Order: sequence, then C-alpha cells, then structure tokens
Amino acid sequence: MKSNKGKEPLEEPVEVLVEPVQPGFKVHDEYFVNQPHSWVKIVSSPQLGEGLHYYVEETPLTPAQRDTYTRIVKILSKEFTSPTDDQIDPAEYVCEQAEMIAERYHRSLGKFTQEQWDTIFYYVLRDLTGYGPLHTVMEDPWIEDISCNGVDTPLYVWHRKYESIPTNISFKTHKALNDFLVKMAHKSGKHISSAHPILDAMLPEKHRLAATFMKEVSLKGSTFCIRKYRPQPLSIIDLVKLGTLDARIAAYFWLILENKKSFMIIGGTGSGKTTLLNALLSLLSQNDKIVTVEEVPELNPPVENWTQLNSRESFSFGEGAPGRNISLFDLVKVSLRYRPDYIVVGEVRGEEAYVLFQALATGHGGLCTMHADSIDRVVKRLTSPPMNVSEVYIPLMNIALYVQRVELPKKKNGLGFGRRIRTVSEIVEHNIYHEVARWDQRRDRFDTMFEDSYILQQISINTGLTMDELLEELERREKYIQKLARKRLRNQGEVAQWILKYYNKRRETRRNPKRKKAKKKSAPVEGEQVLEVVKV
Ligand SMILES: Nc1ncnc2c1ncn2[C@@H]1O[C@H](COP(=O)(O)OP(=O)(O)OP(=O)(O)O)[C@@H](O)[C@H]1O
Ligand SMILES: [Mg+2]
Repeated sequence: MKSNKGKEPLEEPVEVLVEPVQPGFKVHDEYFVNQPHSWVKIVSSPQLGEGLHYYVEETPLTPAQRDTYTRIVKILSKEFTSPTDDQIDPAEYVCEQAEMIAERYHRSLGKFTQEQWDTIFYYVLRDLTGYGPLHTVMEDPWIEDISCNGVDTPLYVWHRKYESIPTNISFKTHKALNDFLVKMAHKSGKHISSAHPILDAMLPEKHRLAATFMKEVSLKGSTFCIRKYRPQPLSIIDLVKLGTLDARIAAYFWLILENKKSFMIIGGTGSGKTTLLNALLSLLSQNDKIVTVEEVPELNPPVENWTQLNSRESFSFGEGAPGRNISLFDLVKVSLRYRPDYIVVGEVRGEEAYVLFQALATGHGGLCTMHADSIDRVVKRLTSPPMNVSEVYIPLMNIALYVQRVELPKKKNGLGFGRRIRTVSEIVEHNIYHEVARWDQRRDRFDTMFEDSYILQQISINTGLTMDELLEELERREKYIQKLARKRLRNQGEVAQWILKYYNKRRETRRNPKRKKAKKKSAPVEGEQVLEVVKV
C-alpha cells in the first residue's frame, strides 16, 4: 500500500486535520476502502499513547492536481445543472458533469495521466457528494459508529474488530464543525441551529445522525454521533451464525411470534437491540399485519402487510407559524386503528409505553426495545412517570430478552468480542420472571429450559396442543433453522421466503390427502344467495 510520507497533506477546505502516519508507527493492519484512492491503517506508537489508532490515508494530490481540483469544483458550482430525473445516482451524475468539464476546459485545466485524473475526480466526488475528509470512515464496512466530542479532539470510531479507537481526523475550528453539521442536517432534510440545537435524523444512505449544535447543549461546542446503516441488515440466520443466539432460541421466538405473544428486547447502547428486533421480524407469518412506530426509521421487516410510521419534530419560527409535533405516543395511538397483529415500537422511552400496554391489553401483539440493563430496571421505569404502566399490565409483555456486547472466551470469526442474548425471561408477574434461556459465558453456549416454559404452557392451553407436541414442533423448527444456517442465504428477504415455505409445507402435511372428504357444497356468496331467492 502507498504512503503519504514526505508529501504535503491535502489542505482541507473545511479545516479538518488528517494527521499523517509517522515513520516510527507500528502498523498492525491495513486495508483499502476505496481502492486505489483511500485506505486505512491500524497503528500504534508510544507517541500516540496507549492502544491502537485508526489512520485514514488517501492518494495525495500534487499542487497541479490540487489546482485543477479547485477549478473543477468552482466551475461545477457555477455551471452545475441539477438532474431532472430523481432516480439518477447523484455521485454518477456529478462524475459525468466533472468529466464533461474536464473535456470542455482541457486546454486550461492541465495535462494529466488517466490515473491522475481519476484521483482528481475521486476528490471532487468525495467533497461534493460524499462526506469530505470523513468519506473513507463513512465507507469503511468495518466501522459501526463515528463520534465527535468537539473541536480539536480526534473523532472516535467503533471498529468491528478493534472496538472503540481514536482516529487521525479532527475538526480544527468551531466553524468547520458547525458547517459540517449544517450540511449533514441539510442532507437529511432537517434543520439544526442555535434555536433548534438537537438533531436526530437519517442521512440519505440511512445512517442515523444524532447531533447537538454550538454551545447550547454541550459546553465544548457541537458534537455528533453517526450510527452507520448496514445496506444488508443482519438476518436471523446471520445472527445464529454469529452466535448471538442459537437455533433453538430462534425456534422458540418463531413459535412465540406465531402465537401472537409479545416481547421486548433490552440492552445498552449499541448492544444490537434494533438489529435483533429487525431480524426476528422475518419469522412473522406473511399474513400478519405489522405497524412499526419509530423516531428514526431503522426497521425493515421483509413483509408486505407493513405500515411504517415515523414521528416528527416541528420547527416553529416565530409566533405566527406554530408547528405540530407528532410523537411516538400519537403514532402508537393511531396504529391501533390499523388493526395490527403486531405493533412494533423501535425504542420505548416515554409515555408511548402506556398506550403500547393498552394495546397489549386489547389483544394486539407488541414488540419493542428498551434501553436498560435488567428487567427489574425496565419494570421500575415502566411503572413510574412518565410511562405510568399499571403493574397488572406488565405480564402482558410476555417475554424480556437481554442482549449485550460481551467479551468471548475464545475468538469467533477472528473477533474477540460479540453480541449475545444473555437471558430470555418469561414475565409471570410484575416481579416474577422465569428464565428459559441463558448464555454460558465460559463455554460460549446457550442453556435452554423450554420444557418448563410458562408461555409455551399458555400456548398449549390456547391451541389445544399438548406440551409434548409443542416441544416437538420447537425441535422441528430448530432443525429447520440449522438447515437454513448451512445454506448460503443472502438477505432477510430470502430468509422470509424459507420461513413461508415452512408454513406452506406444514399446512399441506396437516391436510390428510389420503382421506377423501365428502365434497361440501361451498356456501354461496352474497350475490348467489340473491339469485337463488329469485329462482325460488
Ligand atoms: N449480533 C450482532 N453481531 C454483529 N454486529 C451486530 C449485531 N447486532 C448489531 N450489530 C451491529 O452493531 C451496531 C449497533 O446495532 P443496533 O443499532 O442494533 O444497536 P442498538 O442496541 O439498537 O443501539 P441503540 O441503543 O443506539 O439504539 C450496528 O452497526 C449493527 O450492525
Ligand atoms: Mg436501536
């Protein structure tokens, strides 16, 4: 891989410093992100202090290339015409326009090899349609989160292999950081300013952006955190392969969902709650009607019968234009009118919990995530203001599963840590929980106790199936999930199709093809009845 050694770093127009790798640094790992223009080095050095550091490097521009780059950007900002078709990929469009400019002004823009032109176009695209100096981090598939705690301090990333590490990138001035945030807010179709200093938004690539503006909220000035979106979310089969849960626990949740039981996923920040909830949604039957309610849309269930509702914060500029907030509370309330089989609330934080439990009390299924580290704490929060859920309603949320980012006893897929479902507990009373599965940290395996499951007993009473029959079905599904884990399934959609196949096959085998039923005359539809009356 190349090195920037001895070459001048690019002077960033947004005053963002990208520190170069120094000669004495030890390089532990390196990989391309945008081959051949940008790559990452994981380095350490006594000069940097403890631990590993994440260093972005890019093919540097020569002064002549930099000059041409600046002129292309200037010409583009004057002559750029927006595409008429909104289906066009903006990066491709800007690239075409830049190439046209390079051709039109080729005499004055200078002579370069194709490789040198490619580097110039890389920077034009990076800065006009991408994320500027943060572009490589944003494109790096190993990065989960990017956070900035203020000016003159390195950005931090959460790396899938090396966890939380500082980068070589920092904003040098408040203006640069504020301008970056205003641009990001604009990209997500939202607004951030001193009057509205808190932002929770979604970038066009579906990355989630949380930010605070200037010193209104944080004394050190603007801050932000970007949770990167995986274009291909993890499916339940991926999660089984990663060891987050095993096939038996997945089979249990499949039975639970088929029988309209409710559950909540609890855990800390970034523990994988939303990912797990999204993956479990592929186990729903295709006939189920789902309504998802979220602040920032993250859930993407692979079902057709799905209504997606998102809350909205209003901006009111001046007294004459009062806006109207649409809260999760409003949305959960309206979702009841959609006759859902399941109401799925992305993250329960406030009074919407009260309506969700009302919904459970009227026979709807409910799924949600909650930020907490034990069921006790969740129940305490649910039963206190502003949630105010009555203690008698708590068992309506039949199951609580606790997910955590953990250190593994032995590396798996080359990683020393992972996400695991620590416990699955059935809620019998507001203060009585029955544990049916637990992760064994020493062996990195799950112990399950579904034979004693209180919820399966409830299902047995409701369906007329014996407990043995239910456990047999659980085993069949466990084997089926294991079979799917051996296949090369690429996405949630494919998993959902295999789940549908299972339902169809089971429906077929339930019908006994050998016994010929007496052919029943089908009930006449309304119109036919009228006809018969007329005949008589
Ligand atoms: N089981 C898993 N294995 C590997 N990576 C995972 C797993 N679950 C989640 N991730 C990754 O971890 C990151 C955080 O996941 P997710 O958004 O689901 O967490 P969360 O608990 O909902 O976070 P928050 O509290 O911020 O809402 C994402 O980048 C996701 O792709
Ligand atoms: Mg989440």
